[in-house]
Amino acid sequence: MIQKPRGTRDFFPDELEARRSVEATMRESVSRWGYREVSTPVFENLELFTLRSGEGIIGEMYAFQDKGGRDIALRPELTAPVLRMYVNEAKVLNKPVRWYYFGDCFRYERPQKGRYRQFWQFGIELVGADSAMADAEVMAVGYDLLKATGVSFELRVGDLAMMRSLLSDLEPELRNQVRACLDKRDYGALEALDLGGDLAGSLTALIESKTLDDAFAITGSIPEEERIRGTFAMLDAHEVPYLQNFGIARGLDYYTGCVFEAFAENLGAENQIMGGGAYRLAHLFGGEETPSVGFAIGFDRVMVSLGEHELKRPTTVAVAATPEGRIFGIRVAAAFRQAGIRTITDLNGKSLSAQLSQAAKHADFVAVIGGREAEAGMVTLRDLASGNQQTVSLEEAVAGVVGSGTR
Ligand code: HAM
Repeated sequence: MIQKPRGTRDFFPDELEARRSVEATMRESVSRWGYREVSTPVFENLELFTLRSGEGIIGEMYAFQDKGGRDIALRPELTAPVLRMYVNEAKVLNKPVRWYYFGDCFRYERPQKGRYRQFWQFGIELVGADSAMADAEVMAVGYDLLKATGVSFELRVGDLAMMRSLLSDLEPELRNQVRACLDKRDYGALEALDLGGDLAGSLTALIESKTLDDAFAITGSIPEEERIRGTFAMLDAHEVPYLQNFGIARGLDYYTGCVFEAFAENLGAENQIMGGGAYRLAHLFGGEETPSVGFAIGFDRVMVSLGEHELKRPTTVAVAATPEGRIFGIRVAAAFRQAGIRTITDLNGKSLSAQLSQAAKHADFVAVIGGREAEAGMVTLRDLASGNQQTVSLEEAVAGVVGSGTR
């Protein structure tokens, strides 16, 4: 038996219907904020991802040469592709652009629960706006959208400027080590680094600070102070609950200002369900320097967090026909489908009683068509929930099912 590749999944209809319904909720939610969907290729030129992140990232990617010798990568995320697309068409676009996307991403990671090699991201990018209003809008959209799915989560908000001001005197190498520790939230390893003076103490105090006043007391006044205070004030205006956390460093190294993450309350190690922030990428791809802010939600993790939730099944009719009723049965099924009802017929020539017991498993109504019904153009409609059964005209049968509402 051939197996699927490591870190990938198949989705059976029940699971896929659940995913589609959550996806639809997300789409509706971002649409209300004026975000519109874009789509980019699943593979891109490798350079798109290494320009900012460096060659090191190749180890975590599905990167290969195509038959023409071009270096190609399956997209590990969608921000760089979307910004590439923005730059390609920037001249004709009305700014700011509000775009959203839903697509699969590929990372060569060690698979575990909530961590896959093919996974889906739902995200937005607000390109060409540089204000506290813009930062707060994107976070408010993320909050709104996660809330709409019903997932329980906590939003943490920070800004890289705070940490940067404390780390500005460090050698780049040491600074990266600090960033890596912060990223993994490994504060033990942070204390073990030889940072000199009381830097470790200040870092810890900054991470643990609960109010902006406390945080600025540690960093002193910095040029970004007004913007940071503005962003937090706007978030309050949007009535978005969040926790201040200036320890957020974010693994991707393109962020420039505000950064934020959301954590699901009922997940284990892989509990980060959203990550985002303000960044500049357009100039790297040949465009003008353009302030941007966005986030991506780990769709699969949201689904794990939501668990098995009951989906309303659309009302289903099974047409059960005897050999004499089969031809009329096709017309009956067509009439139900035309009225928008999910309708299934037997294809294997099963006996009427076998068709009826099969129907009991997956349908709400059975339309029984024997020779008598076929001749008279009538339908014997059985409501499987109540057991009631009536022989009526085709129109009446369709109206009866349509009028029954969703089960
Ligand atoms: P990221 O934090 O790398 O950010 O990924 C966003 C989310 O994708 C994570 O919070 C996580 O939920 C999910 N995720 C990441 N890797 C996996 C995986 N292997 N399996 C399942 N889920 C995963 C970005 O990708 C940025 N592009 C976000 C962004 C948009 N920043 C600005 N705009």
